[in-house]
Amino acid sequence: MSVEPRRSKLVARLTHPVARPLASVYRWVDERMGISDLVYKALYEAVPRRGAWTYTLGSVTLIIIALQIVTGMFLLWSYVPSTTEAWLSLNYLAHHNEFGAIVRGMHLWGAYVLLLVIGLHMVRTFVSGSYKKPRELNWITGVILFLLVLALGITGAMLPWDQAAFWTTVVTTHVLSYVPLLGHWLQEVWRGGNQVGPVTLTRTFAIHIWLLPALLVPLIGLHIYLLRRHGEHGSWVNYRNDPEESERERADRVLRAEPPYPAVPSDPAYSVPDDLDEFFPSQVGKDAIVSFVAVLIIFVMAVVVGSPLEAPANAASLTYVPTPEWFFLPLDQLLVQFPQAWMIPVGVFIIPGLASTLLIMVPFLDRSPDREPWKRPQLMVPALFTLLFLIFEALLGVNRLFNL
Ligand code: HEM
Ligand code: HEM
Repeated sequence: MSVEPRRSKLVARLTHPVARPLASVYRWVDERMGISDLVYKALYEAVPRRGAWTYTLGSVTLIIIALQIVTGMFLLWSYVPSTTEAWLSLNYLAHHNEFGAIVRGMHLWGAYVLLLVIGLHMVRTFVSGSYKKPRELNWITGVILFLLVLALGITGAMLPWDQAAFWTTVVTTHVLSYVPLLGHWLQEVWRGGNQVGPVTLTRTFAIHIWLLPALLVPLIGLHIYLLRRHGEHGSWVNYRNDPEESERERADRVLRAEPPYPAVPSDPAYSVPDDLDEFFPSQVGKDAIVSFVAVLIIFVMAVVVGSPLEAPANAASLTYVPTPEWFFLPLDQLLVQFPQAWMIPVGVFIIPGLASTLLIMVPFLDRSPDREPWKRPQLMVPALFTLLFLIFEALLGVNRLFNL
């Protein structure tokens, strides 16, 4: 694929008479900042043609995170992070500010769709074997990103300071006290004392709006850097292991795959995808279509269902039954099933701790060069059972909490 003529076409467009005054300003800035080179590097990349629609999931994740940041910033115009004002400020949005109510709805539904899309992105990179050498760190940074997004979901749920938010805060900070050795100290630091109170909300707010995003954004940068370094060729559908292929043919494919990919030759299953496509406009177009559908779903849900606000937080209430966010339902159900004495250590730490460790370890648990899912039953079968088990637990949880 020749990308060089495209660069000259881009520059040529800027020297068109109509754009000339703007173009000279642009050239002045560009000579000093190298914007064209950056745009060129970002857009003109060889990507695989096979499986292209499944590669939209990573980009949709990115777009929804950007949407969360934008809607979050809008919420900051109205939301007051204090135990006496938080509920009132959101109640005001619900009844007197239609735009604000939709933005709030989009932030909530954005979080839900984001978790779903990240889950699908994870399943797709797992099934396609994309975590294998040299992409182990793509996977590991991904798992950490997933945990950060979960943390953003849970800290966000504490902010409205209605009954649901208050009791989520009580339960979450209580659970933290079970961390070995540091537990009570961590709980006190987060709560700002023994009880959940005004300082807890201030700190949760700080964690939600700057601490977690400050970790998330650079880590996304690293995830994308790794992606560009190794190419988007992690999936088994892009690997051609043709024993008949001569060294010469292979070298020829390597040349055609430039620039600047493919994967590192030290990989025993290394092969260069021969079915390449252009990132721009081909993949970008697909990414835009799927992102548009996702944002449309978020918008429609924000308008039709919106974001609920229960009664204001009441620490003295004895009758309120807290229900977890849907993405914590399997864990909540597991907690109920364990005997009381085991509940916290096993249900809260051993299971999620083990699950996160196992997820991070995936690239090291499966060292075989095979990428096809049917050649990796040692990982695919337990993963499938785990997924079915989580869905089953979530259904049991729904049944218990909502008496369906
Ligand atoms: C904030 C969350 C995340 C963002 C913004 C993100 C973004 C992306 C993007 C844009 C791509 C390239 C397109 C694609 O393959 O879909 C990608 C690839 C990849 N992601 Fe993520 N991702 C995130 C989370 C995750 C998670 C949770 C995992 C797994 C645990 C993961 C593992 C990978 C891997 C292994 C690849 C390489 C795929 C390949 O070469 O076939 N990512 N990511
Ligand atoms: C991936 C990123 C994020 C996720 C998953 C997320 C998730 C959430 C969730 C689930 C809520 C509760 C919404 C509700 O109950 O209606 C929330 C509230 C909030 N978030 Fe975020 N958030 C993210 C990023 C941000 C950022 C970057 C900001 C600030 C710039 C922000 C500002 C807020 C504010 C002010 C609230 C309180 C208002 C409300 O409850 O509606 N969020 N967030």
